[in-house]
Parts: sequence; C-alpha cells; structure tokens
Amino acid sequence: PQIVPFRGQRQAGIVTQQQDRLTFAAFDVVTRNRSELVELLRTWTAAAESMTRGQQVPGGASQLQAPPADTGEAAGLKPGNLTVTIGFGPSLFDDRFGLAAKRPALLRPLPKLPPEDLDPHYTGGDLCVQACADDPQVTFHVIRNLARLGAGTVVLRWMQLGFGRTASTSSAQATQRNLMGFKDGTRNLRAEQAELIDQHVWVGAETDQPWLRGGSYLVARRIRMFIETWDRDYLGDQQNVFGRYKGSGAPLTGVSEFDTPDFAARDAEGGLVIPEDAHVRLAAPEHNNGTRLLRRGYSFTDGIDPTGNLLGGLFFIAFMRSPEQFISVQRKLGESDALNEYIQHIGGGLFACPPGVGAGQHWGQSLF
Ligand code: HEM
Repeated sequence: PQIVPFRGQRQAGIVTQQQDRLTFAAFDVVTRNRSELVELLRTWTAAAESMTRGQQVPGGASQLQAPPADTGEAAGLKPGNLTVTIGFGPSLFDDRFGLAAKRPALLRPLPKLPPEDLDPHYTGGDLCVQACADDPQVTFHVIRNLARLGAGTVVLRWMQLGFGRTASTSSAQATQRNLMGFKDGTRNLRAEQAELIDQHVWVGAETDQPWLRGGSYLVARRIRMFIETWDRDYLGDQQNVFGRYKGSGAPLTGVSEFDTPDFAARDAEGGLVIPEDAHVRLAAPEHNNGTRLLRRGYSFTDGIDPTGNLLGGLFFIAFMRSPEQFISVQRKLGESDALNEYIQHIGGGLFACPPGVGAGQHWGQSLF
C-alpha cells in the first residue's frame, strides 16, 4: 500500500490520504517555444510516474561520460505513497504560448487580501508541482529531478519544504497538530464525503474551459507564525483565538474533538463561549454560506530570520472548485480573525490543476 496510482480520473495528491511530508515548487517557463514546453510535460509525466512507483527517472543506459538519468538519492527508499500533482498558474496563459483563450475566467492572480505582505520571491509561478510522500528525501528527489529535466525550459521560482501535515483528508487519519500546538484538520473535508467533495473540490460543467473539468484549483499560502509572541500568550487566550481546547481539540462548547461547535452558546455573563473573533467561528461553513475547502497544508520552518526569530509556520494548501471559496473565507478572516495578531501571509499562489492523467496521456494534454 505504499504506491498511490499515478494515473486515473483525478490527479493523485488531492483527496489522497494526506502524506507526512511535502516539497512544493513553483516554476517559470523560460522557453518561448510551445512544443518545447509540451515535450517537457511529456518527459515530466514519465518521470513522475516512474518515481511514484519507487523507480528511477527513466533514461538511457548509464554511461561513465554522462550524468546519470536519475540523481540517485532516492534509490532503495520506499515510495512512501508519493504523489506528484501539477498546476498551471495564471501567468502561463499570457500570449507566450497561444493559451490566452484557454485561461479559465476564474484563474487570475488573487486579489490583495489584507493583512497579507507577500514576498515576490515566494509568490506566483507559471507552473506548480506538489510532491507529497511519507519521506522528505523522496519528495525533494522529485522536485530536484523535475528541475533538472526542465533545464533550459523552466526555472525554479520558489520552493517550500513541509513537514507534519496540518490536515487530514481521510476519516482513517488521526488529527495532527500545527506549530501552535493545536489539532488541525478536525472539521476538514474528507475523501469519504464523496458528495461534498464533488460539490466543493472538483471543477464541474460550470467552467468556461472544458480542459479543467474534473480538476481543481490549488491555493497555496506561506503563512508565517510569530512563534515567540504566540509562546508568550496565556493558555486561555490561545484557546479563545481558535475557539477550541488546546489539549483535546474539542470546541469550547464541547468535550471531545469531533463535537459540533455550538456557535450560539453563551456563558453565565452572556458572552459568546466561542468568541466573535475566534478562527473556527469565522472560517466555519455555517458563517460562510456553506463554503468549504479541502485543506492539505504542512508545517514549515526555514530556520531564523535576520533578527534571530524563528521563521516558520503553516504552508497552507487548499483545493477547491472555485478560487472564490478561498477569497471569501480569507477576506472574512483578514478582517477580524483573532489569529491575525500571530500570523502573516508572506507568499503563495493560485494554480489550476487539470484532471487526472489517463492511460497514454501526459500532464496538460487536454490544455495544449
Ligand atoms: C479550522 C489553524 C489558516 C480555514 C482551523 C482549526 C485550526 C486552524 C487549529 C481548527 C481545527 C479544524 O477544524 O481544522 C489555522 C492556522 C492557520 C490557519 C494555524 C494559519 C497559520 C487558515 C486559512 C484558512 C483557514 C488561511 C482559509 C482561508 C479554516 C477552515 C477551518 C479551519 C475552513 C474549519 C472551520 C470549521 O469548519 O469549523 N484552522 N488555520 N485556516 N481553518 Fe484554519
């Protein structure tokens, strides 16, 4: 059960039971030649499929006078449920490749979502690749080899390693904790909720671009946590920020993790038990016209910043049928989430992930 099929109706790595590790990369296309780009997608598809089986990047017989086809660091490692998922950014659809007419109307750069402060060095990209597996060396190996195969056609724009999933995508998975120490993913969508997944995750007949039907939009947000500030906050306030107990993960109106929050409940003094500005109140579908997201993010750290503070947080990833789902929930969080005191969105991107790759097909076949 360590091999997740690469081909299928949907791309793997979306409703696939979330693995423990991530390497995410955004690439820019540097060639102006459309057929070079298509050729690379074909090469990438074969490489990704091979790696998900735990095999090496295919290529000629090894020769002492040439670099090996595979860089080698994953040889002998288990595939670890590796999935490799591709997405196309809005900038791919400018007029370089004659794709302007194929751009889905909803695929445009996200609007400004205060209080974000996005670093251009960690934002955007023509393409993205999400590699998830239970071993970080396996996911890094994927991005490294795709970048290498892409030399001359694409360049890496930014990259993020993630450890520790901050969501669950299957009811079989226990909830893990984010770097604030809270259980994260409790009320996430689950693969088993087929109807809700159809309704909130997969692009359907409503899209203006048939090539995207059966795909999904990916929103990535590199969210820094002000960890030192958070660590000085007292427990009662930490719990009020989320509206949940830190230990059990239960809503402040319940006793166990999966109890349904009672957003109307008031305490003896008449105040709301789950505060007005609690993260779960503002993010809940009950307060967003039923909007849901399939969250699939990871914790990250990149060491310390120039002032010596820990640089880390949550690399938020979510899949959805329309980017509007993220935009509307984030607008609401941006206005009044108690969590805003402790976080900042510092990078990310929006990408359209095409449907799955059928037998004999390659990534992006329906687009080009
Ligand atoms: C719920 C943490 C950012 C959307 C939660 C929960 C935690 C949490 C602990 C409660 C458990 C759960 O149901 O998963 C965080 C942290 C963030 C962050 C630490 C940033 C560092 C975001 C962003 C969005 C988002 C950017 C989307 C715009 C949601 C949603 C829920 C949720 C939809 C479920 C609400 C419900 O149905 O009760 N988050 N979150 N979160 N979060 Fe976040």
